[in-house]
Amino acid sequence: MMTRSATLTLLSVAAATLPGALAWGAMGHETVAYIASNFVAADTKAYFQDLLDDTSADYLASVAAWADSYRYTTAGKFSAPYHYIDANDSPPSSCGVDLDRDCADGACIVNALANYTSILLDGGASDANRQIAAKMVIHFVGDIGQPLHCEALEVGGNDIDVTYDGDDTNLHHIWDSEIPESVSGGSSLSSAKSWATTLTTAIKTGEYKSQMTGWATGLSVATPATRQATALQWATESNARVCDTVLVDGVSAVEGEDLSGDYTDAAQPVVRLQIAKQGYRLAKWLDAIVAAASST
Ligand SMILES: *[C@@H]1O[C@H](CO)[C@@H](O)[C@H](O)[C@H]1NC(C)=O
Ligand SMILES: [Zn+2]
Repeated sequence: MMTRSATLTLLSVAAATLPGALAWGAMGHETVAYIASNFVAADTKAYFQDLLDDTSADYLASVAAWADSYRYTTAGKFSAPYHYIDANDSPPSSCGVDLDRDCADGACIVNALANYTSILLDGGASDANRQIAAKMVIHFVGDIGQPLHCEALEVGGNDIDVTYDGDDTNLHHIWDSEIPESVSGGSSLSSAKSWATTLTTAIKTGEYKSQMTGWATGLSVATPATRQATALQWATESNARVCDTVLVDGVSAVEGEDLSGDYTDAAQPVVRLQIAKQGYRLAKWLDAIVAAASST
């Protein structure tokens, strides 16, 4: 088990030396995981605490960003394309995900989420492989909610240079990290935990209460096809935000601009919603896996 600071060092070295990005920064993934921890059924919690060999309250959050360090290792390089789907649409005028077009070689987040869910449900898989599969699933349910992980244009915004509070960065990166951190107030595990508490309350009794049930509509782990269909539905929903929020006025409106002001103000509600929704969905997805596993 790597320490958090070792992981962060590895991540920042990787981020500085390799193209591509990490998807929601660690904090976003941890927030999704903490929200899920707040909604899972008791037997789901027991199941994953056992599988992940961690009886603490952080059993999901502490592995939520693992896949982003794994992808930069030699052994894990194959998994890099599993963090996104390259929707070859035309934002902002036309958004959409087409599995045949956008996941032609089968290596994309939609198939990866279905695949690692299948491994979790495979009674014949080893504990070690099911543990890896759990970490992948926990991570990818987060990534699939990041609009620029469901977009091909300019390498999911990685090639759109912007500044944020005067610092050079890119559009993808600010959606991963700066904008979420502008809402939560920081990048630490404790920021994630407290943001998750706020969003959990919003789901249970606040602004998201009326939407909660709808977020799980269509969610099914019953067959490989329903796993893929659910993931595609989530990716399509995130991708739509590229047209209505991320690039609403086109690339030229953001390229070279400082986006820490009005742009961030407009993006924050979408980031909050995506994180809250994917946290709740992760809980329901893990519940469905445990229900299916125990009925076979
Ligand atoms: C599915 O999981 C297997 C086992 O880890 C892996 O080798 C394969 O690359 C995965 N494929 C996808 C699309 O996730
Ligand atoms: Zn990722």
